[in-house]
Amino acid sequence: MTGSIDRYAVFGNPIKHSKSPQIHALFAEQTKQSLSYTAELAEIGQFEQAVKNFIKNNGKGLNVTVPFKEDAWRLAEQHSDRAKRAGAVNTLKLEQDGSLYGDTTDGVGLVHDLMHNHHIQLKDKTILIIGAGGAVRGVLEAILEQQPASLLIANRTKVKAIQLANDFSELGNIDGCGLSEIENKSFDIVINGTSASLQGDLPPIPETVFNEHACSYDMMYAAQATVFMLWSKDNGATQVFDGLGMLVEQAAEAFYIWRGIKPETASVIKQIRDSL
Ligand code: ATR
Repeated sequence: MTGSIDRYAVFGNPIKHSKSPQIHALFAEQTKQSLSYTAELAEIGQFEQAVKNFIKNNGKGLNVTVPFKEDAWRLAEQHSDRAKRAGAVNTLKLEQDGSLYGDTTDGVGLVHDLMHNHHIQLKDKTILIIGAGGAVRGVLEAILEQQPASLLIANRTKVKAIQLANDFSELGNIDGCGLSEIENKSFDIVINGTSASLQGDLPPIPETVFNEHACSYDMMYAAQATVFMLWSKDNGATQVFDGLGMLVEQAAEAFYIWRGIKPETASVIKQIRDSL
C-alpha cells in the first residue's frame, strides 16, 4: 500500500484471530486520527525483514505478539525502562530520526484494567500469579509499582518462578515457588498467567487459594468464561475477570505512545466483547 496515511500493524504468527485491528480502528475513529492498522503474518526467522519492509511502506509503529516479542526487543535501538526489565517489546515506534523505540504495555494494560475498570486496588494486597513465562514477566513491574503486601509467583516448573522472582526482587516483596507449595496459603488476588487456558486446561492449584472477598483474573479471554474463571467462581472468588480489558488497555497505551492521545476504553471493551 502506498500513499501518505500513517500505517500501524500487529505482527505475530499466528495472527489471523487478532482483535487488535478492530480495537485500533475504534480508537482511531473515536479520536479522529487518520491511520490504518492491519494484522501482519510474519514468517518465523523473518521478523526483522518484515518490519523493515513495513516501515519502508509508511509504517510508523507496530504491536508485536507471540512469538516475536524478544525479536522486537533486539530490533529496538532504544528501550523504555519497563521494556528493559521485561526483556520483551510489544510496541515499536518509529522515531523522527528513523530509529526504533521499544516499549512494553502489557503490565500497564493489566493494572489499568484491574484498577480503573474493575476498581480493584493492589496496594497492600496479597497477590498470587500463576505461571512464569513471558506473559507473567511482562506484568510484574507494573504490579509491584502498586506496592502489594506480597506477590508470589507459582509455576509448574519451580526454578523458573524462583528465577523470575529474583529478577524483580529489588522492586518489592516478591517470591517464587512450585505449584504444590501454595497448599495452605490464600490470597486477595489470584492471576492466571499460564497459557493453560488456551488449551482449556486448569493449572493444578488448591481450592483453598482464595481469601474472603478475593478476586480472580485470567489473563486469557474467550467468548465464554475460561475454565479458570469457572473454577474460581466455584471455589470462592467473589469477583472473576478475563483478560479482554487488559488487551484493550495495552492497546490504548500503545496508541498513546504512537499518537500522543489516550483513547477512552470502556466503550471499546464493550464493543469487542459483543463481537466475540
Ligand atoms: P507465555 O509467553 O504465554 O507466557 P510461555 O513463556 O511458554 O508462554 O509460558 C507458559 C507458562 O504457562 C509457563 O509458566 C508454563 O509452565 P512451565 O514453565 O512449567 O512450562 C505454564 N503452563 C502452560 N500450560 C500449563 C498447564 N497445563 N499447567 C500449568 N502451567 C502451564
